[in-house]
Parts: sequence; structure tokens; C-alpha cells
Amino acid sequence: MTQKRATFGSKIGTILASVGSAVGLGNIWRFPYEAGQNGGGAYLVIYLACVLLIGLPLMMTEFFAGRHTRKNAVGAFGVLSRRKGWKIIGYMGILSAFMILGFYSVVSGWTLEYIREAASGAMSGKTAAMFARDYTGFITHPWRPLLWLVLTNTIAHLVIVSGVKGGIERASKLMMPLLFVILLVLCVRSLTLPGAGEGLAFLFKPDFSAITPGAVLSALGQAFFSLSLGMAIMITYGSYFDAQTNIRNTALSVTLLDTLVAILAGVMIFPAVFTFGIAPGEGPGLVFITLPNIFAQLPLPGLWSFIFFVLLALASLTSIISIHEPCTAYISERFRLPRRWAALVVTASATVLAVFASLSLGAWKGVSLFGMSLFDFLDFASAKVLMPLGSMLLAVFTGWFIDKKILEKELSNNGALRVRYLGWLTFTLKYVAPVAITLIFLYGLGLFGN
Ligand code: PHE
Repeated sequence: MTQKRATFGSKIGTILASVGSAVGLGNIWRFPYEAGQNGGGAYLVIYLACVLLIGLPLMMTEFFAGRHTRKNAVGAFGVLSRRKGWKIIGYMGILSAFMILGFYSVVSGWTLEYIREAASGAMSGKTAAMFARDYTGFITHPWRPLLWLVLTNTIAHLVIVSGVKGGIERASKLMMPLLFVILLVLCVRSLTLPGAGEGLAFLFKPDFSAITPGAVLSALGQAFFSLSLGMAIMITYGSYFDAQTNIRNTALSVTLLDTLVAILAGVMIFPAVFTFGIAPGEGPGLVFITLPNIFAQLPLPGLWSFIFFVLLALASLTSIISIHEPCTAYISERFRLPRRWAALVVTASATVLAVFASLSLGAWKGVSLFGMSLFDFLDFASAKVLMPLGSMLLAVFTGWFIDKKILEKELSNNGALRVRYLGWLTFTLKYVAPVAITLIFLYGLGLFGN
């Protein structure tokens, strides 16, 4: 018996679900900081080139693999090739997604604690030192972060068990427009601050001397992470596309919207940072210490922190849902389990992993894996190792081993659309992507002395 596979119900729903995956913490804290430190406007140009020349073709390839086979990320390679070995791409993607789930849900949980604190009014009147102290106190607390990560995973679970259309698509159609509105409101607020000019100059002023090979490779790595590539996600989402979905246009919309959100996040953050003369710090510190401290100095402090953390929570939740889905789809199809049981297996095991990851920042700090905390290890192994390897294998597999007629048939929706870009796509998959990804990989492992 073959069951009809679930599909997304509308064009906009298809795009928003994929954008929901792509837009996440990577856009809101990592991108603006990287841009600011690596040449501002010059970095932006390079980032755009990476996104369009390598990210976009790979996203189209993932969508192709999913929709052509209508299978989970492992099953897809079983259909595409008679050689069982290629399934490794799917296994790596799913393993990587699972590891990301382990640390991403920890950080997503933090945003909920900050929403609670902002709503309680406790943030006004705090000094910078108090924000820093409370942040460390909270993330190393033995049980508070655990409660929030359990809540985060429970919300993701409920969305996943409601199905592809009734859960993922519906949640994305609700959350993504809200995210855009909040982002715009915060941009306007930021642009009316006195430091707006300086902040925008930090973000956009091209400084070509800051463009080093390291900056280029970090832009490429950031493009992959931000577009959620190499994690089995876009393959799984592609398998829910209907027959009429235009794969190229969908990938282009997702790519551009994701980049737009990253740029707007910079427009939101840097004017505020410069107005208050604060050094733009990297990583979680920027969003969990610097920004709440800035908001606390504006009129209506609780309000700005509250909506900012709602923005972060929305962005990270839709990403978590998308990381959960490939794991659930695989387990459900491979072991023929009802979706809700498969989802429960994923939620329960990912929550256990996340609990360990969270504890590795505090109570169990002494325990290390290859010299890293579990939290850092999960980030390293997924984003720096499995993700580039998975994308590289996918590019090589599709570029060299897939009949171009199959690719053309799928991308043209059986001849209904023209695919003049096939030559370019094939060239990218065969040569450009493998070379570029090898470089990011070696760079990520620190082999260039960075
Ligand atoms: N793309 C998401 C972001 O920018 C992160 C992510 C990575 C989501 C991998 C899913 C898979 O934050």
C-alpha cells in the first residue's frame, strides 16, 4: 500500500516554511557581527556572491532530491542511485540535524527565559555588569535552562505531530510574518537613535582591506549555515513540494528573504550599539547581554526587550521545527512508525542530548569531549564537519552521477518550465561547489592557521 505523501498546501506556505528554517539565530546574531568585523559592505558583496553562486544551486539540488523521490533524506538516495553507499549523505544530514537540535534548543530556551524576564519588568534599571552576571548565572544554572529547553522541544513536538500542512506550514505562516513585522519595528526604533549613521557605516561601509581569505571562507560557511544546507532539511522539505512548485523560484525567494533578514538584523543592532558606545561583542553575548542592556536605557525598556526576544524565539523555533522534521520523517518511514511515535522518539532523545549540552556549560563543565564542552562539540561536529561534507557529497553525487535528463525533467516540472540554467547548475555542482566547500572545511578545522 502506498500512502499519499503529505505536501505543503500553497506556494506562500512552501516558501515560508523553508524561510522559517533558514531564518534563525544565525541571521540575527552571527551575520551582523561577521559583516561588521570583516569589512562591512565589502563582506556583504562577498556574502551575496556565496549565497547566489553556491548556496542557491545547492538549495535547488536539495529540493530536487526531495521532490523527485518524495522520500526522507536517506530514502531519497535509495531511489536516486542503485549504489547503497550514497545513502551516507542522508545519514550524515540526519545525524547532523540531530546534533544541532541538541544545542540549538538550549539557546532557543534561553530566549524564553528572557521573554519572561522582560515581561516581569525586572530588566529595567539593571546595569551592564548585572546583565553579564545574570547571563552567566542563568546559563550555568543547574536546572532553570533545562525547564526552558524542555518547553521549546515540547512546542516543536506539538507542531511536528500536527503534520506537514497543519503543523509546519501553519506555524510558519503565522510566525514568519510576525517575525518580519517585529524586525521592521525594531529597525525603525534603531534608525531613529542618534548613533544610526555610525552603526550603518559599521555595517555597510566597504572596507576592502578587511577582506582576507579567512573572511571569504567564513562568508561561505555562514551562507551554508544560514540557508540550512547540508542537514537533510531542504531535501525533506522538497519532498513535500507539490508537482507545480517552481524549484528555482522557491529557492531564490528563500535565499533572498534569508539574506534580507540578516541585513535587517544588522540595521536593527548596530545603530543601537553605537548610540550607547558599546563595543560590538560577538556571539551570544551580543544578544543576551549587550542588547538587553541597550534596551534598558531606552524609554519603555521592558517593551523593547520583550519584542526583541519574541523575535529571537520565533526565529529559532521555526528552525528547530525544521531540524526535527528530517529526523522524524526518517524514523517514521524507515521503521514504519506512525508520525506521532517517530516524533516522540526524536523529541525525547533530542531533549536528553540538549539537557547534557546545557549542563556541559555549567554543572558539568569539567567533562570534555575532544577538549570541548558537549555544547561546543555538537556545534563543531555538525556545522564545521558534517554539514560541509554532506553538501560536498551531494554536489559531487548530483553533478557527476545523476543523469542530467532526470535533473532537467524535475526542475522543469516535466517540461512545463524552461531551465536555461542547467549548464550553469551542472558546472557549479561538478567543480565550483566541491572546491569551495573543501576550502571551507579545511578552514573550519583551522588548517589555515586561523
Ligand atoms: N539556518 C538557521 C540559522 O540561520 C540555522 C539552522 C542550521 C537551522 C541548520 C537548521 C539547520 O540560524
